[in-house]
Amino acid sequence: MTVGWSTSLDLHLDWVGRPDSRKLAEALRTAIRDGRLPAGSRIPSTRALAQDLGVARGTVTRAYNQLVTEGFLLARQGAATTVAERLASPHPVTAPPRPQTPAARWDFRPGRPDLSSFPRRDWLAASRRALQTTPPGDLDYGDPQGHPALREALADYLARVRAVATAPERIIICNGYTQALSLLSKALHDQGLDVIDFEDPSLPHLRDIPARLGVAVRGVPVDCEGIDVAQQHSRAVVVTPAHQFPLGITMSSARRMELVQLAKAEDRLIIEDDYDGEFRFDRQPIGSLQGMAPNHIAYAGTASKTLAPALRLAWLALPPQLVEPVRTLKEHSGLHAPLFEQLAMAELIRSGAYDQHVRRSRAVYRRRRELLRDALGSMRANHRPYPAGISAGLHITLQLDPEGPTEREVLVRARKHSVELEVLGPYWTVPGEHPPGVVIGYAAPAEHAFRPALEALVTVLQR
Ligand SMILES: Cc1ncc(COP(=O)(O)O)c(C=O)c1O
Repeated sequence: MTVGWSTSLDLHLDWVGRPDSRKLAEALRTAIRDGRLPAGSRIPSTRALAQDLGVARGTVTRAYNQLVTEGFLLARQGAATTVAERLASPHPVTAPPRPQTPAARWDFRPGRPDLSSFPRRDWLAASRRALQTTPPGDLDYGDPQGHPALREALADYLARVRAVATAPERIIICNGYTQALSLLSKALHDQGLDVIDFEDPSLPHLRDIPARLGVAVRGVPVDCEGIDVAQQHSRAVVVTPAHQFPLGITMSSARRMELVQLAKAEDRLIIEDDYDGEFRFDRQPIGSLQGMAPNHIAYAGTASKTLAPALRLAWLALPPQLVEPVRTLKEHSGLHAPLFEQLAMAELIRSGAYDQHVRRSRAVYRRRRELLRDALGSMRANHRPYPAGISAGLHITLQLDPEGPTEREVLVRARKHSVELEVLGPYWTVPGEHPPGVVIGYAAPAEHAFRPALEALVTVLQR
């Protein structure tokens, strides 16, 4: 049975039948051993517990005395009785901690924004407003597509900032792009898709998503203009046109036209992963591909780069025929994204605080990229890594001189200097001979740590 402590703490106590002092003592012992009553926690007065249980006060007093004698409880004159330190939780119910490799001191892993600059004050204000204004009805099970307020805010924002042609009814809020791709892959698989094309190189854990559903993944080579459309044969393809991940190039307008025309002519689907489209430093960002063919492109954006991956907030702007299948799959995989995160995000966008934060972050990341390029430029010329790609995003890919250190050697040196970074090798669809490179996420270090982090990075890359 569950009893309500007079300290307003609920505790489950196990016993059968009417409790006597022996049963009560055993139930409390078990609660302490299981860790449900942690060391130091106050237990109710004998009078309060007797009242809660509907037993004589003497029954509770006898049980407490027994447990004090056994060392489970600590009774002090004039103070509340508490659970003793020594015997508390001897059988921890939590799993033992997993051994962890110590985190590297300098974090240059790609794919992360500067988490220390998360706009906490703005998010707090947006959350407070959401809490104050949300009607009770919104706390019910909601629309699997996501709250209309966020879908409306996003439809406007995406049209304004990324030239996405959509409407709130075509948007589905997902738990990150990872879920968005998973739902899309399932929907397409259900419709008979058996092969999907990905850019080569691309993120292996994203390629795994359709692969695990039984959809074969083909890598299509990327050159300096983007994906080689002549080699794109599947009915669906995943691309990162604004800023290819990981190579960092942008898709040329000729390639964009070619890819879109092919999709229209052959009735194919393009999945546009616009993961960092807001961050272009040398010019206005190029608009989304989706605006060129909204009925053949599933556009995906995420808050993971602009705000924080922990929010697990992303959005799909879908061709009409995909809305219902993806919506149903979203419903089956946990219904909808958490309400208050959605509402805070909607409020952040509507109030202009999101734009301001992105603008501030853009300025910071632009400067970091320049500092990084300057630092690379000042390295000794022999075997100096060479930056590839456009001035955009949160990462830079450096081509390694084939005569210089190998990817493996760079990783070993990075570990030695407590620097975390990635190399290009795992991004290729088929392992083997590929141009060597290093992928550096320059957004991840906190602002105050960026310069020392950069020095450590140069030490790693310097032969
Ligand atoms: C290429 C690419 N697409 C999308 C994402 C975003 O994934 P999510 O929204 O699940 O955090 C990432 C994150 O690292 C990425 O690198």
